[in-house]
Amino acid sequence: AHLWRGVLREYADRLGVTDASTVVTLGEGGTPLLPAAALSRRTGADVWVKFEGMNPTGSFKDRGMTVAVSRAIDHGAKAVICASTGNTSASAAAYAARAGITAAVLVPEGKIAMGKLSQAVAHNGRLIQVRGNFDDCLEIARELADNYPVHLVNSVNPDRIEGQKTAAYEIVEVLGDAPDFHFIPVGNAGNYTAYSRGYREEAERGVSTRVPRMFGFQAEGSAPLVRGEVVKNPETIATAIRIGNPASWELALEARDATDGYFGAIDDDRILAAQKILAAEVGVFVEPASAISVAGLLDRAEAGVIPAGSRVVLTVTGHGLKDPQWALRNADGSDVQPTVVDAATSEVASVLGLTADP
Ligand code: F0G
Repeated sequence: AHLWRGVLREYADRLGVTDASTVVTLGEGGTPLLPAAALSRRTGADVWVKFEGMNPTGSFKDRGMTVAVSRAIDHGAKAVICASTGNTSASAAAYAARAGITAAVLVPEGKIAMGKLSQAVAHNGRLIQVRGNFDDCLEIARELADNYPVHLVNSVNPDRIEGQKTAAYEIVEVLGDAPDFHFIPVGNAGNYTAYSRGYREEAERGVSTRVPRMFGFQAEGSAPLVRGEVVKNPETIATAIRIGNPASWELALEARDATDGYFGAIDDDRILAAQKILAAEVGVFVEPASAISVAGLLDRAEAGVIPAGSRVVLTVTGHGLKDPQWALRNADGSDVQPTVVDAATSEVASVLGLTADP
């Protein structure tokens, strides 16, 4: 059996890793790429799901964080800092713990999912809740990194993008070529940029015959790339992508233009409906921000822009267990009420509508 060694070792040649390089890894990458028959049936396309929630801290951030923290160590850093809607902070705290250094994480007060908050605390991150939104946090983190001895590990650090592009390598390897379309959630647009770069490199190396059209999706209330202007007070239940001023704005526009791509906006109800479809029909539970890839595909298929038989890959970026509360809500907003019975076989059989074998 081949034992996966994390992205820095698996792609050492591509990432410039030598015997002298520090490697801080939790075994990230090598995530499942799953055919999604239910989504293929619904859209007429050939749909695959790249399940990034299967990374060690439950999101795609780990691919970039292994590179960013390893290089921070090689630069002599004793502390890293990030702004985060939750997943970056969880990942930074975990990789810093692994490396034996400090991670300071700035998050918008009251606006990150409980699972992510727990991770930052569990890994001994210096968690600071800021009375402001993600964009405020990022501004402070950048200023701190410019003026104090802390190393910035947000995706404005190119090491993050370097690591995250490896997901595109894996997809090309499994499928034997790049897909026709790639659907992905967009917050800062760092990951959109990373996949675009990974796919372009594979085409330049002659490993793939094409680059996919990159389709990125933002939540309706936080859609600066779609609107073409900064959103001052971004809102969405998909807190991971509650971002009004994307850090990789220019790079994302370049990537969109280079791939004949697209940015779309999806409202929260459709995000939650897509989360349910993916969990109930494909068996993959993701957090709301990740479900926007599915919602985006359904939206574009309905709009008639996905030719029948097109090969489509959706990145789902974070695990559903990070922010489980949404699955316990009905579409009308009421709470799901699990059935309660007395501890008797006949009661359970009756609730399940079972009749005994003759
Ligand atoms: N999906 C999830 C689950 C995320 O956590 C993020 C970003 C994105 C998508 C968007 O990726 O920013 O590269 O466009 N989360 C960051 C964080 C902002 O702090 O965890 P992007």
